[in-house]
Amino acid sequence: MTAPERFLAACKRMPVDRTPVWMMRQAGRYLPEYRAVRSRVDFLTLCRSPDLASEVSLQPIERFGMDACVIFSDIMMAVEAMGAPVSFGDGGPHIDEPVRSMAAAERLRVTDPETSLSYTMEALRITREALRDRAALVGFVGGPFTLASYLVEGGGSRSYATIKTMLYTQSAVAHALLAKLAEFCALYAVAQVRAGAQAVQVFDTWAGELSPAAYEEFALPYQTKVVGAIREAGVPAIIFVNGCAGKLDLLAQSNADVVSVDWRLDLRNARERLGPGVAVQGNVDPCILLSSPLVVSAAAREAMDAAGPVGHVLNLGHGILPPTPIECARAFVEAPKLSGLPV
Ligand code: CP3
Repeated sequence: MTAPERFLAACKRMPVDRTPVWMMRQAGRYLPEYRAVRSRVDFLTLCRSPDLASEVSLQPIERFGMDACVIFSDIMMAVEAMGAPVSFGDGGPHIDEPVRSMAAAERLRVTDPETSLSYTMEALRITREALRDRAALVGFVGGPFTLASYLVEGGGSRSYATIKTMLYTQSAVAHALLAKLAEFCALYAVAQVRAGAQAVQVFDTWAGELSPAAYEEFALPYQTKVVGAIREAGVPAIIFVNGCAGKLDLLAQSNADVVSVDWRLDLRNARERLGPGVAVQGNVDPCILLSSPLVVSAAAREAMDAAGPVGHVLNLGHGILPPTPIECARAFVEAPKLSGLPV
């Protein structure tokens, strides 16, 4: 099997010759070759330069040979393409003018991603061409709630008090904002498929902060819209929500082909609760990769045993951390190759 065949078969719960593997945020600061590129250009310039973005996307594939290559960009580039300027400091994304009113939500524009995000489309085309069959190319979009949380808070948050206050006191504004984000993200995801993405992951990272009832009202309908567009475009949709334990049944209702599970819950339990119709991805704690190759191999093996041989993509429970030693990242990617055929 080629790597894309292995990856797509697992997403569709079909038999594989071995469990496919990749790591969320695998193109990033733990790699010296990424830091070398970043010493020359700032983060936004990197995202906006197709050749450099493609080079950085390919770095982990060249070094480790995982089965999927995630395109280099950021979930916040979509927000910028809708007309809200974003900057990146040490603390993550920053929105210069947070969206706190209906007028501000209405000012955001549903642009044509082929034009407003043409650099990402070009990066996808170059990367797909360079990959050939070495790895499946994965596109991504932010989940509408996660994008809204940055737009309303103005940046990252501990309590999400500002966006939650909007949900509970100005729900019409919240729904208008979420609907617009979902509309654009659906277009953006489909454009990525046209440009060569073979699967698309929806990163609704911070939707895990919502109560199940709020998730059902403010996250699920908008995720479902984006997931539907991805599936209609003919590729698997993967959904990731950090802290999904209390919402697994709701996540399955999004109709995603694959649910990406964080490390706070047992993968056997997640597998059972999701039922046989859904593939799982995950769920090794990224902090395990701060230990030693032996410990990493054992944890990867345990995740593969827990998920079973069909319908599992081995991955981390969230993004790889910048202090991760290279030999631990390598041990993770090698683990399925060492484990022999699934039983
Ligand atoms: O391999 C890959 O997955 C790289 C592509 C990628 C990035 N961001 C690059 C990046 C992807 C898929 C993302 C998604 C993203 N961005 C998410 C969802 C996934 C998750 O991890 O929960 C979120 C919430 C963001 C917003 C964001 N961008 C934050 C919070 C930060 C700062 C966090 C940090 O690690 O510093 C960023 C910046 C960012 N995005 C970096 C990278 C490599 C670090 C910036 C740098 O190089 O200086």
